[in-house]
Amino acid sequence: PWDPALAAEIIGRHASLDGATLPILHALQETFGYVDREAVPMIAEALNLSRAEIHGVVTFYHDFRSAPAGRHVVKLCRAEACQSVGAVELADHAKRRLGVDWHGTTFDSRITLEPVFCLGLCACGPAALIDGEPVSGLDAAAFDAAVAELRA
Ligand code: FES
Repeated sequence: PWDPALAAEIIGRHASLDGATLPILHALQETFGYVDREAVPMIAEALNLSRAEIHGVVTFYHDFRSAPAGRHVVKLCRAEACQSVGAVELADHAKRRLGVDWHGTTFDSRITLEPVFCLGLCACGPAALIDGEPVSGLDAAAFDAAVAELRA
């Protein structure tokens, strides 16, 4: 869980680095699983930057979560080769099926849906990472089966 004292310590540990914002955000996400919005003013103050600047960095990079992830994370490839073989339709299906948008977590906190940009499986898309395991040739039925397994 989020711990402001530990967060302050992490921020302090990296604050003197050049371009400390990204290393701090990565360290926070690694520790807490996400970057709590409370961290934004803390980082801004430590680095003498504006909150808007820090907030901009957090939202620009797709890697940072603003809320804890669900127990399972499904990352669907959104890059071109996969798009040309149905990744767009698959993403629409996945969002409908899970009832979430990108970066969203299902109401039961089980599954978080995230985009990813090319997994090097372009020849056999649509590709995905399900809890870090690469999966290729995903269609709606295979997606549903994978989700059912995650929920079992
Ligand atoms: Fe999807 Fe490369 S484009 S894996």
